[in-house]
Amino acid sequence: MRVAVIGVGITKFGEQWEDSFSKLFVDAGAAAIKDAGIDGKDIDAIFVGNMSGGRFIDQEHVSTLIADHSGLVPIPATRVEAACASGGLALRQGLMAIESGFHDIVVAGGVEKMTDILAGATTQTLATASDQEWEAFLGMTFPGLYAMIARRHMHEFGTTREQLAMVSVKNHRNGKLNPNAQFQMEITVEQVLSSTMVADPLRLLDCSPITDGAACLILASEEKAREYTDSPVYITGSGQATSTISLHDRKRIPVTDATANAAREAYKRAGREAGDIQVAEVHDAFTIGEILGIEGLGFVEVGKGGQATEEGETAIGGRIPVNTSGGLKAKGHPVGATGAAQAVEIVYQLRGEAGKRQVDADIGLTHNVGGSGGTAVVHILEK
Ligand code: COA
Repeated sequence: MRVAVIGVGITKFGEQWEDSFSKLFVDAGAAAIKDAGIDGKDIDAIFVGNMSGGRFIDQEHVSTLIADHSGLVPIPATRVEAACASGGLALRQGLMAIESGFHDIVVAGGVEKMTDILAGATTQTLATASDQEWEAFLGMTFPGLYAMIARRHMHEFGTTREQLAMVSVKNHRNGKLNPNAQFQMEITVEQVLSSTMVADPLRLLDCSPITDGAACLILASEEKAREYTDSPVYITGSGQATSTISLHDRKRIPVTDATANAAREAYKRAGREAGDIQVAEVHDAFTIGEILGIEGLGFVEVGKGGQATEEGETAIGGRIPVNTSGGLKAKGHPVGATGAAQAVEIVYQLRGEAGKRQVDADIGLTHNVGGSGGTAVVHILEK
């Protein structure tokens, strides 16, 4: 059975002092319901991606909170967690719920409110997605882990510091075209290279920011979708894979096996290959992340991601536009919401509703990563 996305909704990303955690999800969900043209009573279930409500806002049991505040009690609501891949995984759970015939229409989305605690606590909370015993407890942070990956990539493949910066420059250029993005300003390579050092070689402008936000999709069986829309976007492929949780246990540090394995499954299910993808949202939590991602997904040869970025292959107008939304770097990275937000962007692109950042595409892909590469979730969407 094919599964369609019949509605999408997203909040503005950034620091949202005036909005509560549940209001962010309710706003994104209400926008998606309106977009789909359905009624709340048509919804069979909710899947909520959320990394750490407990540590960020002292709130667990967030699935029931959201069902309650959405006025959707008593339908089942399930929280899904895989660190920064929680949103992508919620989408996959929603997809599987419909494909299995269990439900007809579900909400799949994600939410995170990260700015209510102090910066040090945020960094510690994010570090819980690494191996507590061998990494976080000893002081390791996510910028630190990705910095080690970047160093190794530079060492093995000759990736340059400037090429890393070019990922950020591109994504900020795209983010400027996205009214929902956290950062809407262009930056230069020189600005990246002179920004504050965070974890050598990664600087402030190599990092995704701390973000509040939510995103939702309404999924329906093909039969149900026809009742509501003439232009559904189908999720034709889905893949998920794991790797070791700690970086030092990986066979190779600068290669992402979880991404490659998840992509292989998604391509197989969709009957597609990397060369068929025309637009992609790739997990650029750090600039090196996008380079690893485009290599793992097969868009470019392993080791050539920096060069492809420098040559403009991943820019709007390039061979395979990546992160038209601004990516995690410029659009923002509310960790539990990110995977759902990536799919919202691809739906906008495939429906021709991406405004100034619109590209010509019939087939798109999302790539969502948890931790330093311990989880990867890939989806393929088609008109
Ligand atoms: N990119 C661009 N600008 C950023 C930024 C980012 N990632 N993070 C913060 N800024 C800006 C702020 O807007 C602020 O600008 P202003 O002075 O004009 O208002 C300034 O930099 C200082 O912000 P502040 O919040 O004090 O930054 P910080 O030093 O506390 O945090 C990082 C910066 C990079 C440490 C933080 O954004 C971070 O931890 N990012 C990584 C998040 C992460 O690991 N996610 C999970 C990935 S797996």
